Amino acid sequence: MLKTELCDSLGIKYPVIQGAMGPYTTVKLATAVSNAGGLGTLTTAGFTFQKVGLSKEIDHKEGLRRIIREITSSTSSDAVFAVNIPTLKHAIPIAEDYLGVVIEELESNSGTRKKLKAIVTSAGDPAILIKSIQDAGLKCIHIVPTIQHAKTAEKAGVDFIIASGTEGGGVVSYNYPITTLVLLRGVVKTVKTPVIAAGGFCDGAGLVAALALGAVGIQMGTRFIATEECDIHQDYKDSILRASERDTLITIMPYGPCRQLKSEFSLTLQEMMNRGEDTFNYAWEGVKNTIEGNLEKGFMAAGQVTGLIDDIVSVKELIGRIIREAEEIIGKLNSKIGGITR
Ligand SMILES: Cc1cc2nc3c(=O)[nH]c(=O)nc-3n(C[C@H](O)[C@H](O)[C@H](O)COP(=O)(O)O)c2cc1C
Repeated sequence: MLKTELCDSLGIKYPVIQGAMGPYTTVKLATAVSNAGGLGTLTTAGFTFQKVGLSKEIDHKEGLRRIIREITSSTSSDAVFAVNIPTLKHAIPIAEDYLGVVIEELESNSGTRKKLKAIVTSAGDPAILIKSIQDAGLKCIHIVPTIQHAKTAEKAGVDFIIASGTEGGGVVSYNYPITTLVLLRGVVKTVKTPVIAAGGFCDGAGLVAALALGAVGIQMGTRFIATEECDIHQDYKDSILRASERDTLITIMPYGPCRQLKSEFSLTLQEMMNRGEDTFNYAWEGVKNTIEGNLEKGFMAAGQVTGLIDDIVSVKELIGRIIREAEEIIGKLNSKIGGITR
């Protein structure tokens, strides 16, 4: 059976992580992924976006508490999950609030203590939270867009690094658009910390490629949108199916550069950027529209892998398919190249 140190360390069956998907909390999706033997991830990003830009009144702590309780009670006894906490510079107090809620829930609920295994930090420096994360008995998994960021994360002492290439959906680096192929190999060769690959994965062939490059597993975002359980609007899922690999672009959003589907919103934002206009308010309006389900005027984060996705399946079927395909490819590789002669 295909198993890596990621599985042993987190207690998951398969080396597949569902990437955080703000502004959606994706409780149903994360539940399905965790129940299917992968690592489901809840996202706090949506609460943060509202708190820092849209609606200061939102009780972000209660929001996180509610979704942690929901996933704890809706997952099977052997499922495990993670929580994503963005560590954006201007939202550090909010990140600390989230971690406080996580620790309270771990202390007060034995089910959460058994199932919540990791915090995925993103879009910033993990150093601020790492001690509290590890003192709480959790693994710290940090997402990086360049080899340099991986070195910093290792120095901070993270347990796993996610190397996320520019082809991925959601937040990416604007100044350093490094592809997964180069980034993953470079990070694996540079750090001793185990590395998870992200950006462009959707099937078993991708998983085998990631393992061959030295990763201990993959994280997928866009592929998981096109699943039956994903709690994201059907029009969004259909747009992913329709889109080719050429149908995404990167624009600056208020919280950072974001790869998203080409749409009326993103093309207009791109034109504004090209003209050197102030896009801040327009971009926040897009975030608000997305949160309110008004997708025509909102943004739809997605990666270039949209060009490889052509069906909506259940999470269990998807993960099963990925693992079966990966095992088949690994089995066939030796004969495909004529056998290795010594
Ligand atoms: C809709 C969407 C929202 C995302 N939001 C977040 C987020 O809130 N936090 C985060 O760390 N990553 C976020 N990401 C990145 C994913 O977790 C994942 O790393 C990325 O999608 C991997 O690339 P892929 O889309 O090619 O699979 C998002 C991705 C998508 C598609």
